[in-house]
Amino acid sequence: MRRQSDFHARLDRHYDELKWLYCELYEGGLNHFYDLCDKMEARQAARPAALKKLDKDREGSPDWYRKNDMAGMMMYTEAFAGTLRGVERKLDYIEESGINYIHLMPLLDSPEGKSDGGYAVSDFTKVRPDLGTMKDLSHLASKCHQRGISLCLDFVMNHTSEEHEWARRARAGEKEYQDMYFFYDDYDIPSQYEKTCPQVFPTTAPGNFTWLPDAEKFVMTTFYPYQWDLNYRNPIVFNAMADNLMNLTNHGVDIIRIDAVPYIWKELGTSCRNLPQVHNIVRMLRMICEIVCPGVLLLGEVVMEPEKVVPYFGTVEKPECHMLYNVTTMATTWHTVATKDVSLLKRQMDIVSSLPKEYVFLNYLRCHDDIGWGLEYSWLKGAEQMEEIPHKKFLNDFFTGRYPGSFARGQLYNDDKASGDARLCGTTASLCGLEKAVKEGTREDVENAIRFDLTLHGYMFTLSGIPVVYSGDEIGQFNDYSYVEDPKKAADSRYLHRGKFHWDAAGLRDEEGTMENLLFHGIRRMESIRSSFSVFSNKADVKTVDSGDISVLHLTRSYGGETLEAFFNFSDSPKTVWVSDSAEYADLLEGGPKRSGSLPLKPYGMLWLLSSTSNKYFS
Ligand code: GLC
Repeated sequence: MRRQSDFHARLDRHYDELKWLYCELYEGGLNHFYDLCDKMEARQAARPAALKKLDKDREGSPDWYRKNDMAGMMMYTEAFAGTLRGVERKLDYIEESGINYIHLMPLLDSPEGKSDGGYAVSDFTKVRPDLGTMKDLSHLASKCHQRGISLCLDFVMNHTSEEHEWARRARAGEKEYQDMYFFYDDYDIPSQYEKTCPQVFPTTAPGNFTWLPDAEKFVMTTFYPYQWDLNYRNPIVFNAMADNLMNLTNHGVDIIRIDAVPYIWKELGTSCRNLPQVHNIVRMLRMICEIVCPGVLLLGEVVMEPEKVVPYFGTVEKPECHMLYNVTTMATTWHTVATKDVSLLKRQMDIVSSLPKEYVFLNYLRCHDDIGWGLEYSWLKGAEQMEEIPHKKFLNDFFTGRYPGSFARGQLYNDDKASGDARLCGTTASLCGLEKAVKEGTREDVENAIRFDLTLHGYMFTLSGIPVVYSGDEIGQFNDYSYVEDPKKAADSRYLHRGKFHWDAAGLRDEEGTMENLLFHGIRRMESIRSSFSVFSNKADVKTVDSGDISVLHLTRSYGGETLEAFFNFSDSPKTVWVSDSAEYADLLEGGPKRSGSLPLKPYGMLWLLSSTSNKYFS
């Protein structure tokens, strides 16, 4: 008897469930299902041997991405190094930064000026020509793999650019292609959708539909008018997009960020977010990857409250995403920066720590998008008498520097006067006071702001999951105000924090005492401590402790008989903290032992103290 191939064994394992889910979604779609199976087989056959080997290795150690030595960085190819070849030449810097996972922002072909930062893809099989080629992408991925670096890329699946071939043919009147989108002759159905479907960009792109005068049709455009929503009710769309996904993974992409995933299924009378069919589709994508490229991970972009995010992990038997963003923690961190009150952050930590440890969150201080104020307002109202709208106004005033005494230098994003629901842009250094301190402050202000920047990163490194630094934050890059001079960017303030990487400034990282030196090596050190002490393992028990001070967050991580006591001071005053569970502690940041009792905590400072049953760190 012929030995069954690995592919067929994996297909067999998932076949019944995949077929069942497929036919549930696409009634009478059996032929399309067989087409999908053919596509999977073809992509698996074309998968390069080196990637198949990686698949095998990762199948053999399925926890490979759950280790505490994972550290990520996200960047735009053009801002960081011009081209994909350029990124390849900068891999030494990435390694020096202690990074083993890079997320390159969308780099597939996308029309200039109507690209939404690359999130309007006009060809899923082609790299934007000014950035390189698909061959460069594969080359970069293999160079990354040689160094143990994983590569993450977006899969923009909710929509295509209006310039995509499918969209062009739909606009030209081909019914087959119109059926790949949501086309309507009049505003009847669109107006019904508008009643229940909220807006993503209320000021920069109001409404969820766009009128196409040449085609005399309305098309659904949840995001920008040039981003046409794909219709996943059509199995041809699903199959074609699944094929595009497999093509990317065959070029060596290890982590697929499924962009805007909650939006991919639309239903009249609903919010068109997080519908059950979305989970069905994500589960199918997960199985497709497990069959064709089992070393690949899915990262879901679900920028919503925890109750909406967590279901995207799926269940133990039927997992969906491998990783999700810890978005509420991110927003709550900035709330804490502004209020100097850790109560909500402590509560948020308790919620996250009560989740199963198998869940892997990506922790971040900021990303390429704005910071939306998705906080737990019901709790804030009850516990702190804070109302949602005035509180959002306070946060926005604070982070745009308008609030008296504020040190922040951000800008608003989609300032919707009707809902009072503006969001916020800015780099970490500009939001935490470093930009203002350097431009207007004293030496002490600068020292405090650098300490705060490090403390915020240190807090992120203390959390379970994978920390992801935004490229440039590791050297304290400020906002880039020049975006307003570019008419293609001026209306989108997210470009404020997407500036070019400052290689000159990075060159100062080894010059003693410079801001770049203190931040780069400070962050680097924390990363290396994080990866070498098992107390940072994702298996650790994480707890919050009442620090007795409203501005001081006290977390503990316990694993293998050791406990880390972590303190973070969100205020500009020095504090005293108390530790007494052990006679002595190893101070992981400053070095040397500390006796139990009261210990000083600097303004905006942090402490990582390790108590141990053995004395191995005190020698
Ligand atoms: C995601 C991206 C964002 C983009 C949107 C539309 O939310 O993070 O930058 O505008 O999707 O594709």
